[in-house]
Amino acid sequence: MTRIFLIGYMGSGKTTLGRKLAARLNYPFLDLDHLLEEQAGMTIAEYFASFGETAFRVAESEILKSTAYPENAVISTGGGLPCFFDNMEWMNANGITLYINLSPKALISRLGNNKDDRPILRDKHGDELLGFITEKLEERNAYYQKAHIVAEGLSLTAEKAEALIAGKTA
Ligand code: S3P
Repeated sequence: MTRIFLIGYMGSGKTTLGRKLAARLNYPFLDLDHLLEEQAGMTIAEYFASFGETAFRVAESEILKSTAYPENAVISTGGGLPCFFDNMEWMNANGITLYINLSPKALISRLGNNKDDRPILRDKHGDELLGFITEKLEERNAYYQKAHIVAEGLSLTAEKAEALIAGKTA
């Protein structure tokens, strides 16, 4: 049984890498944010606007723990998910966790205009955005760094991720 949880800040490329890795391994790919959107019948941004961040954190944690995962799967998680409740410990106990580590500047460049889909970042620009992500990343690193695998995001390919995971499961 191999369940691979991809974790990392918004813009780290969890979904893109996850899809490629799942295709290489021939595993199904699951995106927890997408599952939440399907169950709630609204986008994450709408969820935040309707119910607020606290309710969202409870909902994403429930999705994490209540999903009937296939034996093998690549699972992409929301950027904040590992940092609330016991979610990081839960993922470490129920699968292999891989953190995609990137600097705030690299994250901003990767996010591009897609940052506006993220309610937490939407209203921030320029130095304010950089300062915010830098501070958040420092806080979140306390959780992210507990991952089984910490991978350098800039040079991470699906092939490399597969090799890192194989090293942990051998
Ligand atoms: C969030 C990350 C988002 C989504 C929500 C909050 C965060 O997921 O869960 O907007 O707090 O980092 P992605 O990391 O997939 O963008």
